[in-house]
Amino acid sequence: MIKLTHTISSTQTLIQQQIGIGKTIGFVPTMGALHEGHLQLIRRAVAENDIVVVSIFVNPIQFNNPDDLAKYPRTLEADLQMLESTGCHLVFAPSAEEMYPEPDLTEFDFGQLDKVMEGKFRPGHFKGVAIVVKKLFEIVIPHKAYFGEKDFQQLAIIKKMVEILQMPVEIVPCAIVREPDGLAMSSRNARLTAVERAEAPIIFKALSGIKENHSWFIPDGVKQLVRGEIQESPFFRVEYVDIVDTETLQPFEDWNDVEHAVVCVAAFIGSVRLIDNIVLY
Ligand code: PAJ
Repeated sequence: MIKLTHTISSTQTLIQQQIGIGKTIGFVPTMGALHEGHLQLIRRAVAENDIVVVSIFVNPIQFNNPDDLAKYPRTLEADLQMLESTGCHLVFAPSAEEMYPEPDLTEFDFGQLDKVMEGKFRPGHFKGVAIVVKKLFEIVIPHKAYFGEKDFQQLAIIKKMVEILQMPVEIVPCAIVREPDGLAMSSRNARLTAVERAEAPIIFKALSGIKENHSWFIPDGVKQLVRGEIQESPFFRVEYVDIVDTETLQPFEDWNDVEHAVVCVAAFIGSVRLIDNIVLY
């Protein structure tokens, strides 16, 4: 049976008992509305650790858009049912008051990492993410924590935060899990209308279409092609298409300038904002 906790102290007590008897702790932070993408992270954590903790917390301070926060799906009962089959041990689902009895004023310096892409278009987002993940790491004290490459920039920010704070946790990146038609799984997909859902795979089609032959074009040309292909659908409004170094997340001019490159996209379909990415090389 999965244990469910809502308070920091009861969570810490349970985890301390396990650490006391030498168990390793794996951790998967989530905002709930779980789907197969989350479950793959959790199954991997179960395979690699003695005890697996999943947090479910819709973190208000990482939402720059109040409407997005209000409409974010909250499905705790269904989430708990899905978790039963994964073999995870503890679900921590705190309230906002429990996590933030008063505002957390921690500041981070991520250099250029949070100045581009999501950081540029969602002011304050990564500060909110870093604050909540730091707090969750302090509560759970995981040996390993699992993050999806779907949120490519988030993963880079979390790695940087762990480095800055010298936290003794290994960050484990996990591949993007997709629907059969290529759409990256996301809790926000539940908000798409049937027509929007049918159009949504265009993002992945554009990204995968350019992977093999990107080097025929300069990076800016690839950006234009991907943007153009997505915008051909009248349902989409592209926010950004960026091609960046996978390490520094900074743009570059020549394919030879970087060892590994990733194309990242954010686009609105109706009122739903989707992100996706593909590593080119
Ligand atoms: P959430 O969007 O719920 O995602 C939780 C974790 O699942 C993240 O590491 C995310 O990258 C991963 N994930 C989501 N969809 C995925 C997919 N299709 N394939 C692979 N991994 C996927 O990311 C957050 O929550 C929050 O920002 C959080 C880190 C919990 C802090 O509040």
